[in-house]
Amino acid sequence: MCGIVGYVGGQDALEVVLGGLRRLEYRGYDSAGVAVLSADGVLTVERKAGKLANLEKQIAGLPLPGTLGIGHTRWATHGPPTDHNAHPHLDCSGAVAVVHNGTIENFEVLVAGLELRGHERRSDTDTEVVAHLVEERYAGDLAATVRSICRDLEGSFVLVVAHRDEPDLVVAARRNLPLVIGLGEGENFVGSDVTAFIAHTREARAVEQDQVVEVRRSGVTVTDLAGTVVEGESYHVDWDTAAAEKGGHEFFMLKEIEEQPAAIRETLGGRLQEDGLLHLDELSMSDQDIRDIEQVVIIACGSSYHSGLVGKYALERWARLPVQVEMASEFRYRDPVIGRSTLVIAVSQSGETADTLEAVRHARSLRAKVLAVTNTIGSTISRESDAALYTRGGPEVAVASTKAVMTQMIAMYLVGLYLAQVRGTRDPDEVRAHLADLREVPDLVQEVLDRMGSVRTLAQSLATEDRVLFLGRHVGYPMALEGALKLKELAYISAEGFPAGEIKHGPIALIEQGTPVIVIAPRHALQAKLINNVQEVRARGARTIVIATDGDESVTPYADTVIRIPDTKSLLTPLLTIVPLQVLSAAVAMARGLDVDQPRNLAKSVTVE
Ligand code: AGP
Repeated sequence: MCGIVGYVGGQDALEVVLGGLRRLEYRGYDSAGVAVLSADGVLTVERKAGKLANLEKQIAGLPLPGTLGIGHTRWATHGPPTDHNAHPHLDCSGAVAVVHNGTIENFEVLVAGLELRGHERRSDTDTEVVAHLVEERYAGDLAATVRSICRDLEGSFVLVVAHRDEPDLVVAARRNLPLVIGLGEGENFVGSDVTAFIAHTREARAVEQDQVVEVRRSGVTVTDLAGTVVEGESYHVDWDTAAAEKGGHEFFMLKEIEEQPAAIRETLGGRLQEDGLLHLDELSMSDQDIRDIEQVVIIACGSSYHSGLVGKYALERWARLPVQVEMASEFRYRDPVIGRSTLVIAVSQSGETADTLEAVRHARSLRAKVLAVTNTIGSTISRESDAALYTRGGPEVAVASTKAVMTQMIAMYLVGLYLAQVRGTRDPDEVRAHLADLREVPDLVQEVLDRMGSVRTLAQSLATEDRVLFLGRHVGYPMALEGALKLKELAYISAEGFPAGEIKHGPIALIEQGTPVIVIAPRHALQAKLINNVQEVRARGARTIVIATDGDESVTPYADTVIRIPDTKSLLTPLLTIVPLQVLSAAVAMARGLDVDQPRNLAKSVTVE
């Protein structure tokens, strides 16, 4: 949470930093701020509560010259989202500017010491202590000063620091949270992710745990906290600015929903062999390792947890392995019975979610093999896992996850089929047939997208509701959860997803005359039972909106509204049923006049517990 950017080069730093912040705003939008340092040592800070647009309005027309800048978008932790808590924070003399992502857990002790030594605190944040500590310890070497401070900090942080006396140097440091270097020609960058600088360079280098980066116009030096230089590999980012922009859509989410067919093709690409079977070297497991797996545990949060649930059905069916799916925030504090023969799959779009990262560490400490399924190359979770399967969904900017979830599900199907292929639990011809079905999915998703007009109309009628229920069975159940999560987070409507067979054990009491109930009911072996459940809620006054397969008339007598999807194998139906749920939630939010990309209180990358 929080987006940070730092720049040193030949361009107007304010423009570069603001451009980076626009792309990082999905990480937090409680406030925004910039610091610009001019060649003659004038350090100017501007910051403002609220979205970046507020800051842009505040600084419009102000002269802020300089070729060195740092910037921040905030997701508030310490102190409310006010102007005075917005970053950058300054020391007493105004010589040092600091932006920070994370939480400094021992800041109260540090504040007490600083106050005793006469420093005046001007914000409620933990971040400000760093500026005062730099003020105290700086003796002409900013990088050495930051290294010494990092040694005294507890918690998680990415810090980016500028000093009035160092007009060609930005120093950044990282512990537990993401920091990436952008390598340009005569200019260099740091950012929370590559979108911070993608408009200027596609060459990047990840910063590892407890490393400090000195960013100068001429180059970048990375050291550990002792000051020893650390060499590292750079990598090329294989998407460009266009991928990180709205491309004519009103919201990123709408664009990202539309991008799903292409994203699925990317996820599948290069992983299917000429003989029609799968090739997943990325798992870094020998065939014997795969045969030795005795159980699978999938850990994830939010929508990624729902992808994990879909994965459970696929892995159990195809690979015949016992699978548990756990919310990472719970798993990390339990005593799970796992070990060398357990494959843990950590599903995370960002690869930075704090709960999932800690769950990965917990699993590895118990000797389990950890596979990261993530969208973000070089992310902390991918680096700390034994292997990473990249979902290749491209940048996802909207807070609500769409194409990332879709490609995670595809990745989970691939893992399930690969384990089945290697363990011999499915005949090769059957694996080929399932892969052939997966190859058809991009076209089927496109077909669903092309039919979404009626869903947008339906959204208008749901915009005034204050409660919506979602029902599904089997793989429809995770989609009921996902549909409810999307509606909650985007439209702020109270929404709950249930396994349809469970409602008679309590939730059916929620049904009143006209309560909207969205039923995920594609053609499936359990469909007759699901139809019974639809009848049960309808008999109690529910307004039923049913997602059903083309040509299936069995549900129509019990549906007030039917949303049609094309036919596919029942295990793959989440790949189609999820689409109207995404479109519906975005359309309801828009009908309520809400910001679809930046829902209140949320941030894309949840790097706090
Ligand atoms: C879903 O729309 C949310 N953005 C959220 O639930 C998200 O899936 C969750 O925070 C996990 O994020 P991750 O995949 O980056 O780990």
